[in-house]
Amino acid sequence: MTDTLIAPPADNVQTLTIRQPDDWHIHLRDGEMLKFCADFTARQFNRAIVMPNLSPPITTEAMGAAYRERIYAALPEGRTFEPLMTAYLTDTIDPNEITNGHKNGVFTACKLYPANATTNSAAGVTDVKKIYPVLEKMQEIDMPLLVHGEVVSPDIDIFDREAVFLEQILGPAIKAFPRLRVVLEHITTEDSVRFVEDGPDTLAATITAHHLRIDRNDMFKGGIRPHAYCLPVAKRAYHKEALRKAAVSGNPKFFLGTDTAPHQKKDKEAACGCAGIFSAPNALESYAQTFEEMGAIDRLEGFASEFGPRFYQMPLNEGTVTLTRKPQPIPELLTAPGIEIVPFHAGEQMSWTFDESATTA
Ligand code: DOR
Ligand code: ZN
Repeated sequence: MTDTLIAPPADNVQTLTIRQPDDWHIHLRDGEMLKFCADFTARQFNRAIVMPNLSPPITTEAMGAAYRERIYAALPEGRTFEPLMTAYLTDTIDPNEITNGHKNGVFTACKLYPANATTNSAAGVTDVKKIYPVLEKMQEIDMPLLVHGEVVSPDIDIFDREAVFLEQILGPAIKAFPRLRVVLEHITTEDSVRFVEDGPDTLAATITAHHLRIDRNDMFKGGIRPHAYCLPVAKRAYHKEALRKAAVSGNPKFFLGTDTAPHQKKDKEAACGCAGIFSAPNALESYAQTFEEMGAIDRLEGFASEFGPRFYQMPLNEGTVTLTRKPQPIPELLTAPGIEIVPFHAGEQMSWTFDESATTA
């Protein structure tokens, strides 16, 4: 984990109250996993963009509406939380499903997974040109496109996949659809930071809590560390530093999206382990720790609670959440019947604690 310390922590800050944040990229899964995971996000965030990479993926308005109901049903009584649903783009998706789903308030955005880029992406897009007619429609109705920015060609080094995607896919697509709002999700490189900074106002990026704290060495510390494996894979330390600077810069093109992605412990600790880091239980504490290390705790609110809604053209949340400066030991394992998940920061002591009782509506 990172030990960068640009400015000393402001020891006088004992509680931190900010406008309630939203999480602009999460995986909630389905079934028992959904029931276990949903409230970790809902207790900290008011809204979240829910990824559609279920099996089978969410490709119709009816599937999106039914999944949203299952999410509501998984939440505890009295919890206010708004899941914002996304449609999974395929080579053959019916553009009317998307436009109607958007018009009827089911789909907030569409997700582009290049085929085989990550978990449950086999049905993703094999050639972005195949969905250009869909992007045309999305531009017309002002529906955002969310992008997993990696090319998957086997001859491209895994650490270069994001940078090559910018050049080969995203650059041309942005030129072809200059009014389409695009979020480059979970950026991991300095190249992406520059690309977004230099790009049009229609382009923004989310940054995860984990990519602000791990670099590629963390996957190999004293042995292979499957719980630090996610996609896009963490890159060299200087890329992490570029992400940290972008997150705290106050540039509204960069905002919070955890990409919390739970997998069973056994599925990560396997010969072919799954990609994904479950950061939802302590997401805010993790971002707060990073912002404090960067001497920029005062910029957390913009990144977590203002820039996302502004980009998505949604109202800011009215309520507040509070973190208290209280050491918090993070468990090695979270369990429920049939479920074992290793959370992000497992075994560490965090310096902030989310105080759920202080949340205001
Ligand atoms: O690490 C990841 N896990 N990256 C993704 O793009 C997908 C996600 C998942 O669904 O497990
Ligand atoms: Zn994701």
